[in-house]
Amino acid sequence: MQELVDFPALAARLDAAGLGHWSTPVEALVRQRLSPQGHGDFERWAAAIAAIPGARGDEQALKRALLALSPWRKGPFELEGVRIDAEWRSDRKWARLESALLPLAGRTVLDVGSGNGYYALRMRAAGAGLVVGVDPTLLYVLQFIAVNHIIRDDGVFILPLRFEETPPAAGAFDTTFSMGVLYHQRAPIDHLRQLRDTLRPGGQLVLETLFMPGETSCAFTPPDRYARMRNVWLLPTLGELETWLSRTGYRGIEVVDTSVTTTDEQRSTEWMTFESLREALDPQDPGRTVEGWPAPRRVVITAINPGA
Ligand SMILES: C[S@@+](CC[C@H](N)C(=O)[O-])C[C@H]1O[C@@H](n2cnc3c(N)ncnc32)[C@H](O)[C@@H]1O
Repeated sequence: MQELVDFPALAARLDAAGLGHWSTPVEALVRQRLSPQGHGDFERWAAAIAAIPGARGDEQALKRALLALSPWRKGPFELEGVRIDAEWRSDRKWARLESALLPLAGRTVLDVGSGNGYYALRMRAAGAGLVVGVDPTLLYVLQFIAVNHIIRDDGVFILPLRFEETPPAAGAFDTTFSMGVLYHQRAPIDHLRQLRDTLRPGGQLVLETLFMPGETSCAFTPPDRYARMRNVWLLPTLGELETWLSRTGYRGIEVVDTSVTTTDEQRSTEWMTFESLREALDPQDPGRTVEGWPAPRRVVITAINPGA
């Protein structure tokens, strides 16, 4: 079977981006993860990917192969007549942040928590030279590999890694995205610092996360689940989030957008048949989660690494 990742091409691209020291440790980890040891379902997923070349030209066969990689959380994708209508209308988030990006043309970009690479591909379409995505969820990485079997973009690599496992990037990136990741961190300030270390002086952080309403500067830790999610740790108010960013050394902090997530933007579909946002909100009061907390609202913030 064809290699799922073109390691020589990855090494060459990393080297050219000043990340040559990533190649050996990253390849070792990625090989380990992209194997039956990485996940009990690996062989089933790999078989779905292997079916893609033969399915091309037959919409129903292609759709079957791609559906075998469900649930699809981020999309939509249009692939040779197959529309992957994922749980999230991720195009809407992209539309909210696109105009706030420093130009991506020719840039080296890191996407932390990249999921299946939906945004990485949007970054490439906006001109980025190289996009490296990291995400520990193997299925999402395999979804990207499936998509890329069809679209063949040689400037995006989505790697099955936690951000904390990546070697120091020593300012190799022009733009670093962290979207939907901060509230899953037990130590969000460490996460912001590590993100800053990836950026060259003048490089841009694009941070997207959940926040709590309120004028005071404070953060809320749900005693248990939040909107049915188990792993939510700290939800700051906007003021608190700006403090975290300035304390970790960012400058030029700008709130680009705030939005309350709608059941139009995040919903169950044929490609993600499990429960979604609707079931996480109080049916009597959709302004509250089922646990009684304020319903999810999200912010996009950009900030600059000023350098030393
Ligand atoms: C809510 S999703 C957000 C996906 C996408 N960035 C977006 O904005 O739609 C969070 C993603 O972060 C990934 N993730 C969780 N912990 C991570 C970590 N330590 N390093 C990198 N990614 C992580 C998850 O696997 C998941 O795909």
